[in-house]
Amino acid sequence: MIEINKDQLIEKIKLVNTSEELEAVKQEIFGKSGAVANEMKKMATIPNDQKKEFGQVMNEIRTALQESFDQKRNDIETALLNEKLKSEKLDLSLTSPDVKKSGKLHPLNKVIEEINEIFSSLGFSFAEGPHVDFDKYNFEALNIPPHHPARQEQDTFYLSNGHLLRTQTSNVQIREMLKHGAPIKIFAPGRVFRVDNDATHVPMFHQVEGLWIDEKGKVTMQDLLSVLKTFLKEFFEIDDPQIRVRQHDFPFTEPSVEVDVFYNGDWMELLGCGMTHPKVLENAGVDSSKYSGFAFGTGIDRIAMVKYGIKDLRKFFETDAKWLEYYGFDPEDNSNNQNGLS
Ligand code: DAH
Repeated sequence: MIEINKDQLIEKIKLVNTSEELEAVKQEIFGKSGAVANEMKKMATIPNDQKKEFGQVMNEIRTALQESFDQKRNDIETALLNEKLKSEKLDLSLTSPDVKKSGKLHPLNKVIEEINEIFSSLGFSFAEGPHVDFDKYNFEALNIPPHHPARQEQDTFYLSNGHLLRTQTSNVQIREMLKHGAPIKIFAPGRVFRVDNDATHVPMFHQVEGLWIDEKGKVTMQDLLSVLKTFLKEFFEIDDPQIRVRQHDFPFTEPSVEVDVFYNGDWMELLGCGMTHPKVLENAGVDSSKYSGFAFGTGIDRIAMVKYGIKDLRKFFETDAKWLEYYGFDPEDNSNNQNGLS
């Protein structure tokens, strides 16, 4: 009586792969002139006493077909979703772009580290002093009274209340001797300030000061030159440094000299130094009849430029990331040499 082949139709649904095919099968089965509708048309011709049964069977068939159809639609949607998820998946195994592991160490910091290492190994203790100081420590106690010509050479930033920005690290000598007395053996790297600005001068730069005072006559000019030579040997990695000594005038040392070093085929002015003036010792509370010794002072920026082939002093302070990338140092590399530069 019923001609619709349920199993065949279910088989047809099962073979569907895409939603387009499924749509076509839907029309074929459930559409206005589809298999189910066609079968239902027979109802009119079926004797009344069989109508009920016919209706029940058709309902079962339709339910089975609908279930099969829904199942297929579900399968297709799940497959589509999986496909989509697959293509949109975040691939966490991808490597990130080339991000630098760490920043670079500024050449000045590198040089200050080297200086610290060398003087510490020679038995000098690290010391530091204030950037803002009184005239007394920066000038007067160093035997530079008001109107002394040395003041003109150090064009000073004066602040209110008798303060100034220190023009030299020599203020540390006075403060350290006042604090610890003698004997004393210190080095003091740090910032200094002068009213100056061109290719070779900037208003803030760095010096390192050295001071070695012991019982009178114990620390000599010869010791001074030997300390300087050892420093040059280590810092510039020269086997046998050649130095030249020129007589000079510093208010805080007597005698005073300037020392040049022969480096890369030329004489280069290195530093000022001398035997600490007895007046300076007295001003700092050290008995000059019992103690004597030497002091020296040099610009750190300049020796950094010479060592690492840096031409323009101002570049040190421009915070130019590209410059630092090129001239800076790997903070984890403790060797004395820079990337490719010597
Ligand atoms: N303070 C001097 C300057 O700024 C450098 C200097 C020279 C320091 C001789 C010293 C020294 O201790 O003995 O130019």
